[in-house]
Amino acid sequence: MKFQDRLIEWYQIYKRDLPWRNTKDPYLIWLSEIILQQTRINQGLPYYNNFINKFPNIKYLAKAKEQDVLNLWQGLGYYSRARNLHNTAKFIAFKLNSVFPSNFDDLIKLKGIGSYTASAIMSFAYDMPYAVVDGNVVRVLSRIFGIDIPFNTYNGSKFFHQLAKEKLIPNDNYRYNQAIMDFGALICKPQKPICIECPMNDFCIAFNTNSISKFPFKKSKNKIKSRYFNYLIIEKNHKILIRKRKQGIWKGMFEFPYFESIKTINNSMFMQDKDCLKLLDPKNLNIKYSSEEYKHRISHQLIYAKFWHIDCNKFNIENSFYISKKQFNKYPVYKLIEKYFNTINID
Ligand code: ADE
Repeated sequence: MKFQDRLIEWYQIYKRDLPWRNTKDPYLIWLSEIILQQTRINQGLPYYNNFINKFPNIKYLAKAKEQDVLNLWQGLGYYSRARNLHNTAKFIAFKLNSVFPSNFDDLIKLKGIGSYTASAIMSFAYDMPYAVVDGNVVRVLSRIFGIDIPFNTYNGSKFFHQLAKEKLIPNDNYRYNQAIMDFGALICKPQKPICIECPMNDFCIAFNTNSISKFPFKKSKNKIKSRYFNYLIIEKNHKILIRKRKQGIWKGMFEFPYFESIKTINNSMFMQDKDCLKLLDPKNLNIKYSSEEYKHRISHQLIYAKFWHIDCNKFNIENSFYISKKQFNKYPVYKLIEKYFNTINID
């Protein structure tokens, strides 16, 4: 138990005081884990606090309007996580009588709860012997034990889950899981780990073979796909046209209407684009200004966004309506839209 003993010794001195560590409430633990899958602790803390202020227990979240949940989530990205959170809260509150499931198999059936989150809830809320395997854990284990199997493959993932399970400390699962996460975040960091302060540097394989930067091994994934979005900025009486999205990762959020092109387009290509003309009537169309291109990265896509300020009094855009600058905060929007909206002067 050399590894575990040193890890726990370190944790007892350096552990971080985080609000979700002072509770056994599975609802709060679930919430924190979903937020932390999306962002780092410093950025996630205000989101966590806002959520628990507004929705202190699962019944409050279940009764919320989807728009309010998305609004609180705004800025974190990956909005299907917020929608799943809300749907699962409704399911637990209304179908399970607000009793949070307390075994792994029931947890994993819930929308938005995968094996990582189910393990985290089992360990942190119920102190059961489930290993959490996130990026921190993989990095620490791969370096210390010199595991050169790519973690993002079927076999690699299986191997790391097995190893993580073997390393659990019987009857101290909760502390061990939290410790290895903190150790990965504070000492065994992705870049520039602080190996001189590491209590395991005498037996860490990566450190002793001078190959820290090689770990963890990763299989390179498919190429990032480029997409070209042309957002339409249509103004009327100091208001601007937005629409509600019906599908995709941004479902339920609001945006400027847009059409997609196969590459970056100029004014004359805009006027002739088939998808553009499905939305806008060319006889009534005048381009006032087009923005520079904004790059926005989402998981495996790189979006090139151009914002077209146009005059057009005849268009065919479903679910669209005008809002003023003041009303903007009421509508959940994704980052790209927020960023551009803030540059527009419609007062
Ligand atoms: N990252 C994800 N979950 C965490 C937790 N419970 N504590 C610290 N970092 C985390």
